[in-house]
Amino acid sequence: MALANGITLRSATESDFPAIVELAEVCFGMRYDRVEIDNIPGLFPTDRAIVAVDDGQIVGHTVDTTMTVTVPGEGTVQACGVSSVTVAPTHRRRGILRALYTEQHARTEAEGVPLTMFTASEGTIYGRFGYGPATVANEVSIDRKKAEFRPGTPDPGGVRTAKLADSHDHIREVYDRWRRLTPGAQARPEANWTIWFADPERFRDGASTLFVLTHPDGYVLYRRQWRDDESVATVAEFRAVTLEAHIALWRVLLSMDLLDRVEAELVDDDPLPWLVTNPRLVRTKSRYDGVWARIMDVPAALSARTYRTDLDIVLTVADPFRDAGGNFALRVRDGVAECAPTGRSADLELGIDVLSSLYFGAHRARVFAAAHRIQAKDPAVLRAFDDAFAGDRDPELGWFF
Ligand SMILES: CC(C)(COP(=O)(O)OP(=O)(O)OC[C@H]1O[C@@H](n2cnc3c(N)ncnc32)[C@H](O)[C@@H]1OP(=O)(O)O)[C@@H](O)C(=O)NCCC(=O)NCCS
Repeated sequence: MALANGITLRSATESDFPAIVELAEVCFGMRYDRVEIDNIPGLFPTDRAIVAVDDGQIVGHTVDTTMTVTVPGEGTVQACGVSSVTVAPTHRRRGILRALYTEQHARTEAEGVPLTMFTASEGTIYGRFGYGPATVANEVSIDRKKAEFRPGTPDPGGVRTAKLADSHDHIREVYDRWRRLTPGAQARPEANWTIWFADPERFRDGASTLFVLTHPDGYVLYRRQWRDDESVATVAEFRAVTLEAHIALWRVLLSMDLLDRVEAELVDDDPLPWLVTNPRLVRTKSRYDGVWARIMDVPAALSARTYRTDLDIVLTVADPFRDAGGNFALRVRDGVAECAPTGRSADLELGIDVLSSLYFGAHRARVFAAAHRIQAKDPAVLRAFDDAFAGDRDPELGWFF
């Protein structure tokens, strides 16, 4: 496909891979570790990449893979996971990203995949393409020496220290049980485990290699570091399938000698602040979006998840970037939805980016309505829509891509 200025878009071939890696390193300002380079094609096959080429040089790139992602109600949906979206600094703001996304969406639509997802480098770029932030992560810092569990908090035990090399099967097995419960979490391909288990230096940020705690229903991967005269443990991955595992693992993390601070990522509903006597000690340093989602097929996506309450509603969904959208009747009984295009007039209007932000249950419809991003016929319609879409479990990204 030819763009203006003689730039063309085409599918990548294996021989493009070194140039694609170089472009990503230039654009993201880092160098991959060898193990990442060796495993990227296993995660994101190069022949699925789209490249923009100017005078024989690759100046733009996007790639995707199909992911199995959990939705509210513990069902799954297929999603196109987009990665490494890059445009050379010499070719910015000429519409290359826009062209790459137009082509990416056309391919996803042709494959009939109802959702696309990615992790965004900036918050202002992707709303125009129909994406909305769809999970929330809170980066917390805990003054370990002051943290005490409330009297009466269970102490389930069962945690062991372990070597990473001896824990691969346990970690894989627990992750898989966890992701089946957690909206937004993806099945994890072997190539991603290979990278994690190699523990590349780039991931360490000057800290130690990974330490491991295991529990029959959970695990923690963390690193240790001296920082600003403090001994810090930074949790790289915390997965607990049960509340017992959650408490047991936190009890060990917060009882380590010679440790001043624990840093971790929590979802909004993580009970940790309420397990300790002083909830302020679980101090939120930053709060950010984990994954951005975009519904490609409204009926398929909306009928894949379950809902909290019955609902009969007609939505007008605006999707100008794809020249799609329209009116959809959504009927929910006992949690199960039927959704189809309809000629009936709308009860509620919203953009595809907002519907996508609501999809996994991280955000509430009433909040978007307060921000003038949802227009409802009357307050009762908004309340019913808000109740039905609310999730029972906070969504979370499973593995970063
Ligand atoms: C982000 C990036 C891919 C944009 O590529 P680009 O070809 O310059 O983007 P386009 O010219 O197609 O711009 C598309 C639209 O997005 C807007 N846009 C692009 N980058 C933006 C930015 N950083 N902040 C705000 N808006 C941005 C443009 O203004 C344009 O708006 P419009 O078409 O509605 O007028 C490129 O700057 C890049 O590679 N950055 C570093 C790596 C990165 O952040 N990648 C994204 C990973 S998720």
